[in-house]
Amino acid sequence: MSDSSPGGPERRARELREALRHYSYLYYVRNQPEISDERFDELFLELKTLEEAHPEFVTPDSPTQRVGAAPLDGFETIEHAAPMLSLDSSADLEPLQRFDERMRKALGDDVAYVVEPKLDGASIELVYEGGRLSRAVTRGDGVRGEGVTENARTIQSVPLRLRDADRTMPGFLALRAEVIMRLGEFEALNARLLESDRAPFANPRNAAAGSLRQLDPRITAARPLDIYVYDILAIDGRPPPTQWETLEALRDWGLPVNERCRPAAGVEDILAFHAELEEGRDDLDYEIDGIVVKLDDMAARDEVGETSHHPRWAFALKFPPRNEVTRLLHIFPSVGRTGVVTPIAFMRPVELGGVTVSRANLHNREEVARKDIREGDRVRVQRAGDVIPQVLERIEEPGRERAEPWVMPAECPSCGTGLEPRGPYTFCPNLFACPAQLAGRIQHLGSRHALDIEGLGEETANLLVRQGLIEHLPRLFELEAETLMELEGFAEKSATNLVEAIAAARRTELARFIYGLGIPEVGVTVAGELASHFRSFEEFRAADDETLQTVDGIGPRMAEQITTFLARPVVSGLVDELRGFIDPVPPPRSGDALAGLRIVLTGWLETMSRSEAAKRLEAQGAKVTSSVSKQTSYVVAGENPGRKLERAQTLGVEILDEAGLLELLSGGGADDSGGSDVDDGSGEADAADRADASGEPGEA
Ligand code: IVH
Repeated sequence: MSDSSPGGPERRARELREALRHYSYLYYVRNQPEISDERFDELFLELKTLEEAHPEFVTPDSPTQRVGAAPLDGFETIEHAAPMLSLDSSADLEPLQRFDERMRKALGDDVAYVVEPKLDGASIELVYEGGRLSRAVTRGDGVRGEGVTENARTIQSVPLRLRDADRTMPGFLALRAEVIMRLGEFEALNARLLESDRAPFANPRNAAAGSLRQLDPRITAARPLDIYVYDILAIDGRPPPTQWETLEALRDWGLPVNERCRPAAGVEDILAFHAELEEGRDDLDYEIDGIVVKLDDMAARDEVGETSHHPRWAFALKFPPRNEVTRLLHIFPSVGRTGVVTPIAFMRPVELGGVTVSRANLHNREEVARKDIREGDRVRVQRAGDVIPQVLERIEEPGRERAEPWVMPAECPSCGTGLEPRGPYTFCPNLFACPAQLAGRIQHLGSRHALDIEGLGEETANLLVRQGLIEHLPRLFELEAETLMELEGFAEKSATNLVEAIAAARRTELARFIYGLGIPEVGVTVAGELASHFRSFEEFRAADDETLQTVDGIGPRMAEQITTFLARPVVSGLVDELRGFIDPVPPPRSGDALAGLRIVLTGWLETMSRSEAAKRLEAQGAKVTSSVSKQTSYVVAGENPGRKLERAQTLGVEILDEAGLLELLSGGGADDSGGSDVDDGSGEADAADRADASGEPGEA
């Protein structure tokens, strides 16, 4: 296709690279995206396909080349271009006032500052040589750190190449930046880690630092990180004369700068900024732990100089920490959907940064023992953003008599089966039958990235199990509206809606079905990879460890988890039964007849429901969307079409009737000769998917 574009594939590849860089810059640096995520993905896919056909045109700084390096044996120690000093800081006002007085004394009364959020992440040095990212080094001891270049390349907002369009780029540029993990990503990562029996990170900073220090760049790539750049460590040529101009220059070179930075004239401005950020702290989707005040004028910075630890021209005013002390009342073992039994702390309610907290996760019995937390103890609880609170530590109370150490019960609190320890964790082996696990499984199967059954949330799943309506997962598909109506909280309408939603879910995409089974380690991304690789559930199910490992992102550990799970007799019987109800559709191939079409459905169809039409169109590669735009290829109008038909007429979009739809579907005899798969699962999925895409490639 693109091979026929004027100038040939090489020129097209160059155009695509430039376009993708430009759109990333608008998105990450200017916060003014000009195209949809979908369009971006389409261009990315076009470039990827083109480069696959013509590997000779791949450049090292192509946007497709973010992940590619092989795992390392260890990190190289690299010296920074200039020392990465730390900051003088305090949560009290007085040291800040003294800082301001010192500056005024040295520089006069019209001293100018820049104030910035103090990002709570991992500090890193980025070096660009000839405009290309040549290395990334962790802060380490401030003089030298670890080379994590390949990992930094996986961060989408780190440009692989500097922009030269608005401001001449320097030949050499060493920067200081903060790598962060946004809260949504952090929570999703911890959920994944816990699900696969691994210890969660205590906060987003540790998660960012830990993800950056993975020897396998693919693991880093699966943990979406972000970056903000705030300082020039070294540059060839003349550096910008002020901090404010530095930030502008960094933006022009395509580097993401935090949008909240601003000029400040004195203590009053500084405190206003501090108050504003502290108040808005919960609305940010990343963690900050204070503000940083910096002299704006670079010449003035040289004048005041630095100590061996920190510059004299900057000061950090920290926020009070978001942790509190309260009393732990009770520890309760809670059984999750995979059978992991998690000790939960019930505490006297306490306010943490505006939210009342009464429960916290204690993770596993070894954590409880390690922190020596007992019922009745005074404990310090911490909350980071919207994250589930954690018990940080026990507070000593000399002379107070304590309860006995907490022990995990021998039997499952939900079904009474004997519990089994596995490493630090404890499991209820009554897979799928234990009521607590069953309710969790039902909820997971109905969740947004699985069968997406509206109305089947946690509460309903629990109710169905508690009332004995479902004792076995496949019974979900035999529920009747009449039975549901007898339950508390259900009326005729809600009961019918749920039954219909369950029926509609019987035709689902293969990836959703695989994900919905709740196989250990198999998150949304991995399920997508498996679906595009095997294209039929039976093929996937029959695959042995070795075959599974030929799938992108699947290592030996994950392969083994998958085969072991599927081979368990309970699971195998259950899957057989589920297959009797559910007939999953394989994902489209790039050679699919309808690939690239965007279709909107409106009105009542006679031969099939709209959702079935959508599934069949999607199975052949079309994209079915809900609103009509100029990009829409066809609007399919059934009986009593809605506004969408009018809009199609206004925009001049082609309109099909039901016969036209059927023709489109049958004309689309998909070419099954094995073209490459559309979904490359490289994390270029839509935003919702990004939020909790798993894809921990065989982390040992
Ligand atoms: S300036 C020599 N600006 O805070 C001055 N640091 O506790 C260089 N940090 O290690 C630091 N946000 O990693 C600066 N806007 C910001 C920052 C920032 C976060 C980090 C930095 C430093 C730590 C000190």
